Amino acid sequence: MTANDRHGSGRTAVGVLASGRGSNLLALLEAQDEGQLEAALRVVISDVPTAPALEHARRHGVEALHLPPGPFKTRLGEEEERAYVRAFRDRGVELVVLAGFMRVVHRPFFEAYRGRIINIHPSLLPSFPGLKAQRQALEHGVKVSGCTVHFVEEKVDAGPIIAQVPVAVLEGDTEETLSARILEEEHRLIVEAVNLVAGRRAWSRPA
Ligand code: GAR
Repeated sequence: MTANDRHGSGRTAVGVLASGRGSNLLALLEAQDEGQLEAALRVVISDVPTAPALEHARRHGVEALHLPPGPFKTRLGEEEERAYVRAFRDRGVELVVLAGFMRVVHRPFFEAYRGRIINIHPSLLPSFPGLKAQRQALEHGVKVSGCTVHFVEEKVDAGPIIAQVPVAVLEGDTEETLSARILEEEHRLIVEAVNLVAGRRAWSRPA
C-alpha cells in the first residue's frame, strides 16, 4: 500500500486537535496505517509545543503543527482560533476531531465546521461533563461509566451523541485504574466514531 493510498484521496480529510499525550490520536494513526480508517488524517494541531501528540503524528507521516493558543487558559483567543481554522481549511480538512484537546472551541470553528466537529470524552455523557470525568464518576459512586464521542456544540460536552462504550466501575477502583480501562475503550471508540461520521452512518437526535 502506498502512502497515497493510505492517506487516501477521496476519503474524508480529518484534522485533529490534541493537547497532550495523544494516545487517542495514536489509535487513529495506527488504524490508518492498518487500513482500518475510512478517512484520511491530514494534519494535527496542538496548542502545546511539547505535546507528545505532535511527535506521534510526525512519526506516522502526518503533518503536525503547534499554533499559539492566545491569552486564555481554557479557550483559544479569537484571532488564534481563526488561525487554527485557516490551517485546517488550507489543508482541505472536512472533519475536525478533538482528541484530548483541553480548550473549548468557539465561533470561528462553528462558522467553518458546525456539525463536523467531534469530541471524545471519558464518561457516559450526559453524566460527568467537564474536567476529571473519571474522578466525578468515582465520587458519585456509579457502577458503570465509560466513554462518549459526540458532535461539538456551544454547550460543553453536550452535543448529539455519536457512539458510547460502557465500562464497569470495579470495587477498589482508583482514578488511575478506572481511567486506564476507559482509555482502552476510547481507543476503539474514536476509530469507530470517525468511521461512522466519515461514512455518513452517524445520526443525531431529531431537530
Ligand atoms: C482522554 O481520556 C480524553 O477522553 C480526555 O482526555 C484524555 C486525552 O488522552 N478528554 C477530555 O477529558 C475532554 N473533555 P490522550 O491525549 O491520550 O488522547
